[in-house]
Amino acid sequence: MAGPWPFHAGEMALILGIETSCDETAAALVTSSGEVASSVVASQDELHAPFGGVVPEIASRRHLELVAPVIEQALADAGATLSDVSAVAVTTWPGLIGALLVGVSAAKALAWARRLPLVPVNHLHGHVASLYLRPLDLEPPFTCLLASGGHTMLLDVRDRAGYRVLGTTLDDAAGEAFDKGARLLGLGYPGGREIDELAKQGDPAAYDFPVARVPGLDFSFSGLKTSLLYTVRDLPPQELEGRRADLAASYQHAIVRALVGRLEEAGGAQIAVVGGVAANSELRAALPGAAFAPLALCTDNAAMIASAGRFTAPVPYPDYLSLDARATAG
Ligand code: KG4
Ligand code: ZN
Repeated sequence: MAGPWPFHAGEMALILGIETSCDETAAALVTSSGEVASSVVASQDELHAPFGGVVPEIASRRHLELVAPVIEQALADAGATLSDVSAVAVTTWPGLIGALLVGVSAAKALAWARRLPLVPVNHLHGHVASLYLRPLDLEPPFTCLLASGGHTMLLDVRDRAGYRVLGTTLDDAAGEAFDKGARLLGLGYPGGREIDELAKQGDPAAYDFPVARVPGLDFSFSGLKTSLLYTVRDLPPQELEGRRADLAASYQHAIVRALVGRLEEAGGAQIAVVGGVAANSELRAALPGAAFAPLALCTDNAAMIASAGRFTAPVPYPDYLSLDARATAG
């Protein structure tokens, strides 16, 4: 697809992005040239923490409360009003269906009221498009590792309009492995950041956790999690406290080794990493030559959705009123 769509070269337009696919309610304003004018993320982490994971019904209800104020805040932060907005981009798939519907309904209402086009965005394309925002503004082609709480994929990115899947996880996502590992270690939710912090005080060679070898360029993390489970279970309870940092460091090291190994096998002149796990400090250190999404844009946000909206065909007013959200990526 040629050039940023639906905008023409030289034209400066503002895109409103809306993201509610999981447990972050987010809105952002991004210009057609990829400048982030504002990005607001209201995290629901504390609501879900007692359950050790996202509770879909709680997420939908909270999105409903937050979506309007979050959009208003994004407009205010950008010094803009709805009359400055040229298109509304919203995550329509994949994600929790009830959560997605809140963002899609809000986007439809706003776009319809102002007769604007609506751009339906694939959340995974959004993660990749976090790399297209300025100042990074990464040019394809590149091989991209997308590692988040819901997905772990290797992508061949030839242009900004999409990607080709080279490999995916056969069971847990890398972020899920971090979250489940953190739970086994008695750490908080979401676990990635907690393990990352604790691992800094531990020895990554203390335990030799196995990295699953599956054919092709796919991933598997469920065996690793089981291995941590058995190691923790076999430790005398009074020893766990003293070994927690070593366990976190070794466990993280195994996940990072698996991700880096696959990237090396996939090859490619340019490597990029996106998604929540791209915030991991050991992963960032292990791939010094790779392009990483900026830290604030690794976990779910709406700037990346507006960014993907620049390279996705819009649905004209009022055809999108029948547009639906979809839970699955396929
Ligand atoms: O991209 P994201 O916000 O949500 C999904 O689309 O899934 O990713 C969230 C995931 C969580 O599993 C979280 O534990 C993980 O990203 N994460 C990290 C770090 N920060 C967040 N994993 C490892 N190290 C981190 N520093
Ligand atoms: Zn995500």
